Amino acid sequence: MRVDIISAFPDMFKAVANESIIKIAREKKFLDLEIHNLRDFTTDKHRSIDDTPYGGGPGMLLKAEPFFLAVEELASKKSFVVLLTPQGELLNQKKVQNLSKKEHFIMLCGHYEGVDERVRSLADAEISIGDYVLTGGELPAMVLLDSITRKQNGVLGSQESLLEESFEKSLLEYPQYTKPAEFRGMKVPDVLLSGNHQKIASWRAKQAVKRTSEKRPDLLKENK
Ligand code: ADE
Repeated sequence: MRVDIISAFPDMFKAVANESIIKIAREKKFLDLEIHNLRDFTTDKHRSIDDTPYGGGPGMLLKAEPFFLAVEELASKKSFVVLLTPQGELLNQKKVQNLSKKEHFIMLCGHYEGVDERVRSLADAEISIGDYVLTGGELPAMVLLDSITRKQNGVLGSQESLLEESFEKSLLEYPQYTKPAEFRGMKVPDVLLSGNHQKIASWRAKQAVKRTSEKRPDLLKENK
């Protein structure tokens, strides 16, 4: 999968690109990631990317032209252009699953008060990561990038993939423990120490349903 990210703050992506799963996916060539500076797609001598809104109002808007020039340079027939915006469709694991099949993403990050409305016409999809407003689309782009990268075949070990599957069935993860078997009076459930794999699997399945009904009953309703 190839991902091009267009941002006015490309340095924000450095840590995410160079740690953990994204780093491994890049090293193993499952992910070809390029972060682009929006300013590199300007044509004026001041390299300006923002301006005041027509009609007045607070703050600055990102201009349309740099986004258009970026997409025109980077896009091919296989590209899927995503604008990260609080007005977009809410991201969830099912959408992640579908999106992760695309071969090429171009992610457009807004910032400040937003982007010129005409930028929307470039996007195949508008995505929000939640009903709250962030300073820009950079953190949402990182969330989207992480969630689709871990879905690429071969990126995760089989154990992690199974856990992921459980959330795709709209269930929360079952409780997990590591050594020691007792910590500050809190004991690991006996069944997990029993070595009986069938019993362990059925305990975990029950716990996943119990947890979901206690913490996120809305997820169980989604299944019906
Ligand atoms: N930009 C600012 N807030 C956002 C959000 N919640 N999701 C996606 N993009 C955003």
